[in-house]
Amino acid sequence: MPFVKHDVKARFSKAARSYEKHADVQQRVADRLVSLFQLDPPPTRILDVGCGTGILTSRLVDRFPDAEIVAVDISDEMIDQAQLRSFADKVEWVVSDVLKFDDRQRFDLVTSSSTIQWVLPHSELFEHLYNLISPGGRLFFSMMVTGTLTELHSLRRTLFPEKLPATELSEMSVVKRTLEQAGFSVLWRKTMREDARYEDALAFFRSLHELGITGGHLSNSGVLLNRRELTRLIAEYQKRYGLDKGEVRASYQIGYFHCSKQNPSS
Ligand SMILES: C[S@@+](CC[C@H](N)C(=O)[O-])C[C@H]1O[C@@H](n2cnc3c(N)ncnc32)[C@H](O)[C@@H]1O
Repeated sequence: MPFVKHDVKARFSKAARSYEKHADVQQRVADRLVSLFQLDPPPTRILDVGCGTGILTSRLVDRFPDAEIVAVDISDEMIDQAQLRSFADKVEWVVSDVLKFDDRQRFDLVTSSSTIQWVLPHSELFEHLYNLISPGGRLFFSMMVTGTLTELHSLRRTLFPEKLPATELSEMSVVKRTLEQAGFSVLWRKTMREDARYEDALAFFRSLHELGITGGHLSNSGVLLNRRELTRLIAEYQKRYGLDKGEVRASYQIGYFHCSKQNPSS
């Protein structure tokens, strides 16, 4: 199944109102990303790529109260939700595909949390972000990488090997190489695992759906699972990954990258 951009937009738009209710992992990831920032002097002009409902944006406003912050998202429904936040007037919100987004001034920090895996191809994205950053500026982001939802993928491989997702999440080494090919210096990268628990397997699958994650190129092959197959998948997930009191577990593998655009004069 080819990567279809309007499909990503439609799914996140549909999920906009339910997104935050299920975004525990994304909240933790945004906290961790901000805790890893090494930015001295602090940035004066920041771009948040794929801001969604503003989970990372809220932390940027707190951390850099004097900076000018622009937040871009392809989904107008996501931006509508973000604009309901108390800090909304401190941010310039833009509805746009980031690949089409341009601005008269460059940014000294481009950042993003839990989004980069959705914006493909990465070669085009990183070249575009490189052009949006001022010389000496930074790119600091988190993204989901291979190993995310490994329990679910392994179960699908066992049960429905003919219906595997069309696209895999990226490997860290491939992301690093693509960043370097776009011109960035990768100052460091690290992976950290986030574990999540859900009330039961059905709640887990619902939460993926309400986050806008299901149905895209990262979870579907060209052939959808039918209702019977889905019911079996949920039941098997419960059996294999069930914990006490009916809860189930799922794990996420998060890649963090700190990159710079060299200043030609240094
Ligand atoms: C998983 S959410 C992450 C949102 C937020 N950064 C967070 O940490 O919760 C991914 C967001 O990326 C947006 N997105 C996907 N592709 C995009 C693109 N090409 N340009 C801009 N935004 C995009 C989606 O609409 C969605 O709001």
